[in-house]
Amino acid sequence: MSVKRIGVLTSGGDSPGMNAAIRAVVRAALYNGLEVYGIKRGYAGLLNEEIEPMSSLSVGGIINRGGTILRSARCEEFKTLEGLQKGAAILDKYGIDALAIIGGDGSMRGGVELSRISPVKVMGLPGTIDNDIPGTDYSIGFDTAVNTALEAIDKVRDTAYSHERVFVIEVMGRHKGFIALEVGLAGGAEAILIPEVPYDLVDLLDKLRESYERGKRSSIIVVAEGAARAEDVKKFLQEHTPYHMRALVLGHMQRGGSPTAFDRVLATQLGVFAVQRLLDGHTNEMVGVEGGRLVAVPIEYIHTATKTIDLRKLEVASMMAI
Ligand code: ADP
Ligand code: F6P
Repeated sequence: MSVKRIGVLTSGGDSPGMNAAIRAVVRAALYNGLEVYGIKRGYAGLLNEEIEPMSSLSVGGIINRGGTILRSARCEEFKTLEGLQKGAAILDKYGIDALAIIGGDGSMRGGVELSRISPVKVMGLPGTIDNDIPGTDYSIGFDTAVNTALEAIDKVRDTAYSHERVFVIEVMGRHKGFIALEVGLAGGAEAILIPEVPYDLVDLLDKLRESYERGKRSSIIVVAEGAARAEDVKKFLQEHTPYHMRALVLGHMQRGGSPTAFDRVLATQLGVFAVQRLLDGHTNEMVGVEGGRLVAVPIEYIHTATKTIDLRKLEVASMMAI
């Protein structure tokens, strides 16, 4: 059965570029003669029937805007069989035969579960700043978040230098250290702590002491939130070094802001590709980019595979920190 009406939603933690992805899905669908319905507030909005037709005009002027015009939410009810059945019935009521889901791995799982009990065709688009979704080198929003965090770190470096301080800066990444690694390398961090690699604060202490003896008076330590809390690391180091220390949590600022050119282009390409895959009869897939090429992987793959960090980058960062 060919697709006639696509629903699009954003779910889970928002990320810069989600708007560009919505725009791409809507316009690619309209271009191909399909109808598009926007579903507000992720799966929560689906269950509340917050569903409206979308036009080309309704996605005008959003390619440069962070956040998501459809808003995002988390929805516990959708994790239950009753919630899924209710969602399936509402999609059926609105004649929505395909669903473009823009979100993180939890949102993709929602799509998998929905497709088990409903004929709706599911197509996932990876949208999370954490970049922790297997099957794609990049998720929408990662590049912007890295650049946002980097801008903050560069500013902190100025004041760290003036006051001869060490800053422990915590970046997002509940389970993975992709943001920390990238931003630590780009920001010239003295050390990078990520959940994937065990670390020893005593080793870090020695490293800092050595730097102090060499005459280094200011440093940046980047910590992924999944590895440690900046405040705890700061407290431990403060007790044992002559450095003046400060801790800083960058927090949700990393999730906002105008998307970079990279994220806008990625989101646009993925949105168009997602619609194309649906038109070609595919379902239960997530679109992504690998080695610079657009790919589609079975959506289940993202829950069986693990995305691994490039450990060579950590080695390079450590080499640069002598
Ligand atoms: P993200 O998509 O950013 O990883 P979450 O993990 O919070 O964010 O997931 C977003 C939403 O996806 C959840 O609030 C829930 O509505 C839905 N979801 C997650 N896991 C499942 C599941 N096993 N079954 C159905 N829906 C799910
Ligand atoms: O979007 C993913 C993420 O940024 C994680 O790194 C972080 O732990 C989480 O979202 C926090 O999100 P919230 O405050 O919305 O629960």
